Amino acid sequence: METQDLEKLRKEALVEVAAASPETIEAIRVAYLGRKGSLTEILKSLGSLPPDDRRSLGNQANNVRRELEEALNHRVQVLEKESLEARLASEAIDISLPGRSVHLGSRHVLSQTIREIEDIFTGLGYGIVDTREIETEYYNFTALNTPEYHPARTLQGTYYVDAPPVDEKQGRMLLRTQTSPAQIRVMEQQKPPIFVIVPGKVYRPDVADATHSPMFHQVEGLAVGEGITFGDLKGTLEHFCHKMFGPERAVRLRPHFFPFTEPSTEVDVQCIRCGGSGCRICSHTGWLEIMGAGMIDPNVFAMVGYDPDKISGFAFGMGPDRIAMLKYDMSDIRMFFENDVRFLAQFS
Ligand code: DAH
Repeated sequence: METQDLEKLRKEALVEVAAASPETIEAIRVAYLGRKGSLTEILKSLGSLPPDDRRSLGNQANNVRRELEEALNHRVQVLEKESLEARLASEAIDISLPGRSVHLGSRHVLSQTIREIEDIFTGLGYGIVDTREIETEYYNFTALNTPEYHPARTLQGTYYVDAPPVDEKQGRMLLRTQTSPAQIRVMEQQKPPIFVIVPGKVYRPDVADATHSPMFHQVEGLAVGEGITFGDLKGTLEHFCHKMFGPERAVRLRPHFFPFTEPSTEVDVQCIRCGGSGCRICSHTGWLEIMGAGMIDPNVFAMVGYDPDKISGFAFGMGPDRIAMLKYDMSDIRMFFENDVRFLAQFS
């Protein structure tokens, strides 16, 4: 046994340990340091050497043993670290991958339009009131100063409900043809000052076509108090039109007739497509009619027990279906109610 042999063994062993895998490392340890390992054999054979050689070779061999043990321990640690890292890498969850998208529904374009209208009026301090869709002749017509012989009261103008009347004064039950009966209900229940809007569904026996639907929507408005003038009506509705259609739009009031308002008016805004020069949407007039309005008729105040000499007010009624159609350049009202997702998704 010579120093060179020991050095050769040392080098070979270190090379093997450095390249050891988890499967081979134990065998390598045993091959060198096991009971019959080559280094163990060397250490065992030292006894047969002369004392001087024994000491120096023994020292060297022990150093090699320590070095090998350290190299083996180190290699074990490296292998454990590598295997941990490999596991972490293989089990990693890639949180940068886009998740599965969740398809959220969106608000119906009509609901969006009604909300927009509501927001404008709540911004002015108006409350939002909901009343009923099944009404009586009294609320839908009589109390609104609409006489018995009015054509809207015929079977062609109104859906009557096959239900016994509440009493003689209330007349027949019907699906409301307008949201205006809410005016009467609110005034019966509240005292002035009253500032409310009433969004809701209304019904008329029209055959569905591009511009008619047997069910559509209205938003009624009611402002009642002392000293409310036509100027207030004009200012309020101009404010609404500018918020809804843009501050640059001109607004005009055109004389009209409604049984429950006097004077009555229709409100036009400058065409939102052509700006007033005339186009298909505005039938080349430059104007779009968007609501009816007027000062509440003293006869209506009398119906709810208000003193028309002390109390005044205005009312208005608009069709959000029509407003949305104008705004989004739609040609067929039926699209609102067919629930074709390809249509609805355009407004999400
Ligand atoms: N109720 C009317 C209609 O359906 C619309 C209307 C016009 C409502 C004038 C009003 C109003 O409150 O003052 O045609």
